[in-house]
Amino acid sequence: MIDPKVLLDFIKERRSIRAFQSKTVPENEIEMILEAGRWAPSASNRQPWQFIIIKSKEMLKKVARVARYGKFISEASFAVAIVGKPRTSHNWYVVDTSLVSMNMMLMAWSLGIGTCWIGSMNKEKAKEVLGLGVKDYLLTVLPFGYIQGDKPYPTYRKPLSDITKDL
Ligand SMILES: Cc1cc2nc3c(=O)[nH]c(=O)nc-3n(C[C@H](O)[C@H](O)[C@H](O)COP(=O)(O)O)c2cc1C
Repeated sequence: MIDPKVLLDFIKERRSIRAFQSKTVPENEIEMILEAGRWAPSASNRQPWQFIIIKSKEMLKKVARVARYGKFISEASFAVAIVGKPRTSHNWYVVDTSLVSMNMMLMAWSLGIGTCWIGSMNKEKAKEVLGLGVKDYLLTVLPFGYIQGDKPYPTYRKPLSDITKDL
């Protein structure tokens, strides 16, 4: 178990990171991020996913080219393309892979490694670059790298009173 206050503060502290140091993330830390993804919950425990690990500079640049608001992928130490498998769980692959993504983002943050969900990309082109099948669903490509500069300021969240309703 983890101290709940520590966990809440940690969740609040996480930020999307869009600038990375050139320092390489070591294998054991990459593995911890992948493990955190692997242990995400999924509907009926079907685990409808595949993780494509991108380390080559050339491939990072190719993916960055098709990401409109994710050009910084090219500066990452590595990236993970999170791929959903509709044939394994046709109702839940988007939800399940999103949970994978969140787990990976939190694990990275705990290691001092920044990442950012890239949604704004030409997914068809990205799938082609990554050699994915037509039935594969590309959720996102998460770039990972040690945080460059200061941690960004907290981003705005709607107050609880605006988003909750008592019954
Ligand atoms: C589904 C989704 C898609 C996103 N797409 C992008 C993107 O294409 N480029 C980008 O720079 N940030 C992207 N983000 C990051 C959000 O802008 C960011 O999470 C939000 O502004 C809150 O900031 P924070 O993560 O630092 O708390 C995306 C986030 C989510 C959840």
